[in-house]
Amino acid sequence: MTSTPAPSVAPAEAEIDALIAAQLHLEGPLLPIFHALQEAYGHVPQAALSRIAEALNLTRAEVHGVMSFYHDFRSAPAGRHVLKICRAEACQSMGGAALADRLLAKLGLGWHGTTPDGKVTVEPVYCLGLCACAPAAMVDGKVRGRLDEAACDALIAEVRA
Ligand code: FES
Repeated sequence: MTSTPAPSVAPAEAEIDALIAAQLHLEGPLLPIFHALQEAYGHVPQAALSRIAEALNLTRAEVHGVMSFYHDFRSAPAGRHVLKICRAEACQSMGGAALADRLLAKLGLGWHGTTPDGKVTVEPVYCLGLCACAPAAMVDGKVRGRLDEAACDALIAEVRA
């Protein structure tokens, strides 16, 4: 899963090409290429799509179609911290929805929103495998379970620091 996103930089074409080339030995390299680019830049730069298409002998539309199908790939950089809140059943049964609403209100964000200072992006996620410790969340790739209001407030303070 994602870690703290890398700061947004204008990627050099040669650098993009090198990241693409490093995955070409794999069978079905398209998803590994997306992962490598997102790891490097915090998102998949739009400029990379035609270069991927060329390297894999696909159309740009095909590359774009695959990328937009998967929620994990971003077309723009996220905030410095990414807070994913589980919205699936077990977490709902433990009050996760109300907790998420409260957390969004405190941050002044909607789902997929980023605070104006660029510090935190909040996203929904549909099960983190932490159902027995619901409600659950993930901060910069690290899971947190048994969240209550106090734990959420601590989480907000942490990502805003
Ligand atoms: S339903 Fe939330 S972690 Fe599984």
